[in-house]
Amino acid sequence: MLHRHDGDLYFERVSLAEIADIYGTPTFVYSETAIREAYQSFAGAFRGHPHRICYAVKANSNLAVLQVLAELGAGFDIVSGGELARVIRAGGDPGRVVFSGVGKQDWEIEAALDAGIACFNIESASELQRLADIANRRGQQAPVSIRVNPDVDPGTHPYIATGLRENKFGVAMDTALEMYLQAGDLPSLNVVGIDCHIGSQITELAPFLDALDKVLALLDQVEAAGISISHVDLGGGIGVRYRDEVPVDIDAFASAVTQVMGNRSQTLMFEPGRYIVANAGLLLGRVITLKSNEDRHFAVIDAAMNDLIRPALYQAWQDVVPVGPGEGKAMTWDIVGPVCETGDFLARDRELSLREGDLLAILSSGAYGAVMSSNYNTRMRAAEVMVSGEQHHCIRRRESLDDLLALESLLSRD
Ligand code: LLP
Repeated sequence: MLHRHDGDLYFERVSLAEIADIYGTPTFVYSETAIREAYQSFAGAFRGHPHRICYAVKANSNLAVLQVLAELGAGFDIVSGGELARVIRAGGDPGRVVFSGVGKQDWEIEAALDAGIACFNIESASELQRLADIANRRGQQAPVSIRVNPDVDPGTHPYIATGLRENKFGVAMDTALEMYLQAGDLPSLNVVGIDCHIGSQITELAPFLDALDKVLALLDQVEAAGISISHVDLGGGIGVRYRDEVPVDIDAFASAVTQVMGNRSQTLMFEPGRYIVANAGLLLGRVITLKSNEDRHFAVIDAAMNDLIRPALYQAWQDVVPVGPGEGKAMTWDIVGPVCETGDFLARDRELSLREGDLLAILSSGAYGAVMSSNYNTRMRAAEVMVSGEQHHCIRRRESLDDLLALESLLSRD
């Protein structure tokens, strides 16, 4: 999707320099084709087994992104009432929504019951009881799955590993059976599934298969107790290539998973976020100032940690490429933002030919980019643009200072 033509960088058939001229910088740019292709490769890999891909909305919740996925027939994995509202606004089918998260509030549960979602992924005994009470009061039956914690090490950054015993997520394997029996006895609950999510940016197959083994062992016990389960949700977490990682090949992943499923009839569900959008997006920024201190060279650009926090928060490596041909002598640069924090860097030690005013593209910014942005330092949040062939659409205008101040009030002094 990203290619160079006459020295200039293009995303699909749109010049990124032109995007910067029209929309300014910093701006997130997404490729509709890349999103479609990623979704279709995932769904296509599972065509031999009943499946549903529930895109993890948290990765990129822009309405237009959700719209593209809704049009492809995707389901959605949400973690809040806000995300549910986005899915509905974007034309997503609530009947294909699963609701994850450790702290679902009453209003969110009620909104999800109103919408008729497919499943509540339950994370604790207390949440199970709360959902049963709310559904009972409303004379409804709530579809449930219990998120088990299979205690496998996904071999990823500690902040994004979720399936270890010490994490706050899910229910320990040895108490899950008891919870299923409890759920089976509550008339306002309808047990439909079993789920887990072991972490994010996982590049190995083994942790997924270990988790699946454990989940299926529990499924057998639950079914032996007379409770039937219609879906197995393995969560998200499938890694992508940011630098030189060799992620799991999706076809190999699908064939290993379906082989372990054997002739079980349950629908396989997944909640991929990063896999669908990470490499379908980039962040465009412009060099404001070049400066050198002692032995380091800094390129201060107009994008910062408030726009893209992954490098600062997880020491994540994302590629930085010049949008123009990049003239002059190459040097080793730290690409930093204007925010007043030493941790405000987007990339370190990059060999680039840079001049003030140059445009840079920070690649792989489609997942956990715009959604994690903030107004720190009273910076307006970036614009978001979707390219599609030779077209470009503004899918979120840049915030204005008025937008930013609109919710605040001065103290009254009369
Ligand atoms: N399902 C559940 C229950 C999750 O908690 C997550 C991600 C996903 C699915 C989607 O995972 P994915 O397929 O995108 O790996 N901000 C971090 C990642 C946090 C992931 C949180 N949960 C980052 O930028 O690396």
